[in-house]
Amino acid sequence: MNLKDYYIDFFVRHGHKQIPSAPVVPENDPSVLFNTAGMQPLIPYLMGQPHPYGTRLCDYQKCIRTNDLDSVGDTTHHTFFEMLGNWSLGDYFKEESISWSFEFLTKDLNIPVNRLAVTVFAGDDTIPFDEESYEKWLSLGIPKERIAKTVSDNFWIAGESGPCGPDTEIFYFRSEEEIPEVFDPEDSRWVEIWNNVFMQYHKNQDGKVTNLPHKNVDTGMGVERTTAILEGVNDNYLSSIWKKVIEKISSISGLPYEGEYQKSMRIIADHIRTAVFISADPAGIKPSNTDQGYILRRLIRRAIRHAKKLNIPMDSNWEVELASVILDQYASYYHELEENRGVVLEVLTNEKEKFNRTLEKGLKEFEKALQRNHSIDDLTAFHLYDTYGFPIELTVELASERGISVDEAGFEKRFKEHQELSRTASAGKFKGGLAGNGEIETKYHTATHLLNAALKEVVGKDVHQKGSNITAERMRFDFSCDHKLTEEEKRKAEDLVNAWIEEGLEVQVEEMKKEDAIASGAECMFLEKYPDIVTVYSIGTVSKELCGGPHVKNTRELGHFKIIKEEASSAGVRRIKAVLE
Ligand code: ALA
Repeated sequence: MNLKDYYIDFFVRHGHKQIPSAPVVPENDPSVLFNTAGMQPLIPYLMGQPHPYGTRLCDYQKCIRTNDLDSVGDTTHHTFFEMLGNWSLGDYFKEESISWSFEFLTKDLNIPVNRLAVTVFAGDDTIPFDEESYEKWLSLGIPKERIAKTVSDNFWIAGESGPCGPDTEIFYFRSEEEIPEVFDPEDSRWVEIWNNVFMQYHKNQDGKVTNLPHKNVDTGMGVERTTAILEGVNDNYLSSIWKKVIEKISSISGLPYEGEYQKSMRIIADHIRTAVFISADPAGIKPSNTDQGYILRRLIRRAIRHAKKLNIPMDSNWEVELASVILDQYASYYHELEENRGVVLEVLTNEKEKFNRTLEKGLKEFEKALQRNHSIDDLTAFHLYDTYGFPIELTVELASERGISVDEAGFEKRFKEHQELSRTASAGKFKGGLAGNGEIETKYHTATHLLNAALKEVVGKDVHQKGSNITAERMRFDFSCDHKLTEEEKRKAEDLVNAWIEEGLEVQVEEMKKEDAIASGAECMFLEKYPDIVTVYSIGTVSKELCGGPHVKNTRELGHFKIIKEEASSAGVRRIKAVLE
């Protein structure tokens, strides 16, 4: 058994239901590119919606964080990682949460109490000192010298707004040296392994903190880090998680995992693993120059450049061999890996072939620029990106290997201008938190469902949603239809939506099994993208759709609906732009 199995086994024994890992690309939250914590897919339930599996949940969640891309290559940073989590949705609170964490660590994992230390929330102007957690740790045998009180490090929130609360963090002493009696959270020999957040608050976008409907527990433990600790290695890549991957890179390159080769090997291992998980995701992400696709492209390209550094021949099948090791290793935990094996390998090979065509030329161009100017200005960095497909971090990395810096801010400016020009930047995606889910967007969201229903009545049952895009200014709705709408059809659809708005229809939300939702006639756009348990929104009796929300409570909130444009989108697909006034 490995850590994941031990963990799930423990929490299932303690009354928790295991829930499947959500996809790495969030299904219902366009404000973030990837899930970055186990709690992210659970936000609606932490906010009070009943979860179909009950009030005690546990899982291992695939997470991706790309803010520390530059740090990957050291012994501990990864872009993809698995987070173990257990949750109480208004069920148990501090007492049980702390007791179980302690029991799991000291009994199931056999960690000596003497190697553990904790932090608790010290209290500030608005939220008091977490005395209950402090006393609980003492009662379990953690001496007071090993309990540190902090403020900023003991309050947890994902981004700027959302469910949040004080937390208690558990640390492990990862060193052969003598364990100091007094715990200092700043001493890097103490490594954080588990975070238990007592989520009882909600922070609004304006910074106001209110109570959630009930008190929840949200915990997170990193699989990579804890596994390395349990196996007694100081380099994550020496743990059983990475063993086969590193061995494969070693055998492909004919080089040992030592000295100067280590960094490149770690980057290849990390980036290819993340690329495997992104391209296997049901969202169907492909390398591109925007959003998740651009992250995928950057990861693969950086891995390719490091493979070249290790003199791995590009015309060999190295990416397929390596990805196969990763796919095999995780296939029994994540079914999409097996299902999308072919897609993953194709994505990697295609991107390798594509980048390989320009990489050499780009490297020559880089050398020339360096000789010319002895620096890399924003124009050169942008030229390398635009013409040779060099992601900025690749250029930065090449330059830093020569002790030279790059005008990254200047590059970003050009990059943004370029993206805006080609109108590929999608609004709001790079903002954190729940951006894009404001009041007006919520109204447009509900109006989209009404328009969908109205078009079915006016144009015909064959109308299906093909896409939608919402900004604070307008909604856009793409739907299947073989003709340009007549003036009459447009007016009828508009009138129908407005009639429903005036009727003041209630918006209802319920959770159900996907099959039941479909059997009940609920409409949905990409069936295969939804999890087994889905959220269904009904508007009176006029509309029923699988959807993540959010929606208004009553259609009366929408105001007046007006179609401003109807045009062709692509073959057999029409596009309507509309506003609420
Ligand atoms: N959500 C908490 C974290 O990610 C547990 O640390």
